[in-house]
Amino acid sequence: MSTIPTTTLGTNGPVVGVQGLGCMGMSEFYSDQFGDTGETESRATLERALELGVTLFDTADMYGYGRNEQLVGPFVQAHRDEVVLATKFAIERREDDPTYRAVRNDATYIRQAVDASLRRLGVDHIDLYYMHRRNPEVPLAESVGAMAELVAAGKVRFLGLSEVNGEELREAHAIHPITALQSEWSLFSRDVERSAVPAAAELGVAFVAYSPLGRGFLTGSFSNAGELAAGDFRNYQPRFTGDNAAHNAALLAPVHKIAADRGATPGQVALAWVQQRAQVHHLAVVPIPGTRKRTRLEENTAATRLILTDAELATLEPIAAQVAGDRYADMSSISR
Ligand SMILES: NC(=O)c1ccc[n+]([C@@H]2O[C@H](COP(=O)([O-])OP(=O)(O)OC[C@H]3O[C@@H](n4cnc5c(N)ncnc54)[C@H](OP(=O)(O)O)[C@@H]3O)[C@@H](O)[C@H]2O)c1
Repeated sequence: MSTIPTTTLGTNGPVVGVQGLGCMGMSEFYSDQFGDTGETESRATLERALELGVTLFDTADMYGYGRNEQLVGPFVQAHRDEVVLATKFAIERREDDPTYRAVRNDATYIRQAVDASLRRLGVDHIDLYYMHRRNPEVPLAESVGAMAELVAAGKVRFLGLSEVNGEELREAHAIHPITALQSEWSLFSRDVERSAVPAAAELGVAFVAYSPLGRGFLTGSFSNAGELAAGDFRNYQPRFTGDNAAHNAALLAPVHKIAADRGATPGQVALAWVQQRAQVHHLAVVPIPGTRKRTRLEENTAATRLILTDAELATLEPIAAQVAGDRYADMSSISR
């Protein structure tokens, strides 16, 4: 199997495979049918990804209360020069109080968070360090200023932001160059095209598209969160439950039709659509689908070779505007 093409993150950032790997689901949020064997397959998935040319690996300090960084760490250590390691700070959680959640952007917190991530990962630097969520009560001068100090100290190579709007991206970029913006972008989630995407294109900031498979919904593997385990995070996402789920599943008919016509899977059509945003909006786009399984990883990376025609793209165009239900039950920490 051939390796995937590459692209450059930001104007001076690292070269990465055009598709990355989201590692979050290896530790939390999505129900795990594997029990203990899940981690073994996840580790094998990380290795297989690198063989296929995937180099951008995405984690965060809050995934599994740090366990996702611990899972990914030995893999990164073993391939330190080949891997572009991305992690994030800002969402403070407490395992002994799952209802606690705070968005921390203050400099003191950032300095502690990076050292904690480096310890869990077992490396001496992070390639791409994102602010996971923005707390508007903390000036960007403070948070991006503190992030810039980490670059100067050699703890971090490049900076990123997640779920900020175009105005915030511009302000941050004027403080220190931002290499990548990571936000949700998929056939179902296109609100970023209003402000964040044009700003990123103008500034030369790469777009790392998270949940490009609509958290699995676009693959057709489930059509209602009720089919998933009780604790699965998607049970709390309005678009995957009740009447919304049935309405949204019906919207996928054109995706299934293109998949059948092209001998592809619906997930591959969804990923190809995100990848082709690069040409439409003139910026580097790196989707980071999340999977714990080598077979799905191989299916997902093969989507980098699927080029949708203009006619196919036109049939997909109306979908996002018809989606029922927000991306999160609580959208308060998302900059619209
Ligand atoms: N910045 C942020 O705020 C933020 C938010 C969410 C996510 N992220 C990052 O983005 C990454 C990707 O997003 P995501 O994991 O939420 O959503 P996603 O990539 O849209 O979907 C992941 C889900 O789809 C399933 N899946 C993957 N490939 C499949 C295939 N070929 N066929 C059928 N099902 C498939 C996975 O299950 P299996 O694992 O069982 O294959 C998982 O349940 C995360 O891992 C994380 O690193 C960032």
